[in-house]
Amino acid sequence: MAGDEREVPPPLVTLPDPDRLPGARPFDLPALVRGRRSVRRLRSDPVAPELVTAVLEAAAWAPSPHGTQPWRFVVLTRHERKRELAEAMADAWRRHLALDGQDEETIARRLAGSQRRLLEAPVLILVCLDPSDLDRYPDSERQAAERTMAIQSLGAAVQNLLLMAYRLGLDTGWMCAPLFCPEVVRRTLELPEHLEPHALVTLGYAAAAPQRRPRRPLEELVVRWE
Ligand SMILES: Cc1cc2nc3c(=O)[nH]c(=O)nc-3n(C[C@H](O)[C@H](O)[C@H](O)COP(=O)(O)O)c2cc1C
Repeated sequence: MAGDEREVPPPLVTLPDPDRLPGARPFDLPALVRGRRSVRRLRSDPVAPELVTAVLEAAAWAPSPHGTQPWRFVVLTRHERKRELAEAMADAWRRHLALDGQDEETIARRLAGSQRRLLEAPVLILVCLDPSDLDRYPDSERQAAERTMAIQSLGAAVQNLLLMAYRLGLDTGWMCAPLFCPEVVRRTLELPEHLEPHALVTLGYAAAAPQRRPRRPLEELVVRWE
């Protein structure tokens, strides 16, 4: 046990005692896992840069295929940058909603909600996939599996980030919008061609407690245990 503890590398940033941060949740992993929730209304109060670094570092400790660490992050805190991204993604979403046959009023309402959410959040973290270091295979089947593994690890990284944020008294929301307009996001943020935008995480302090979704009972989830 003591040996295991010695192997844990020191953190990148030294935080003040996390328990003294405003709103910090007790370090109790089962409670943190159950307590983390998607918060869709955040206060615009700024988040200290060292807390942002701490959540990114937590993400970076996630497992990944062959240890490739294929996640890359873009952090936006400036209003102007957030607005540019929100507007560019709204244009793309407007086209998609119209294609789905949604009426003008519904489109306007949904876009306004999404814009508000992005602009209210003091920090936006765009999570991108960098596939450069993935293994190459001659057949498409294994190549697809390799890519799936990398995307799975992106999910692990995001979950680490969400849990660390929650522990530090922050709240988060996971938005999939960039996945539907990767080119628009790349162009707006002037990202290199090889980065694939996958998820956008809003980070800040909750403005209101959200409604929790109940979980399916384990009997439904475990299809076999023998
Ligand atoms: C891959 C992924 C994409 C998601 N995209 C969105 C999204 O675009 N907008 C949103 O409000 N929530 C999004 N969510 C959050 C889920 O709606 C949320 O996790 C789920 O309803 C369970 O609620 P909880 O996070 O409060 O436990 C996403 C979650 C995942 C894992």
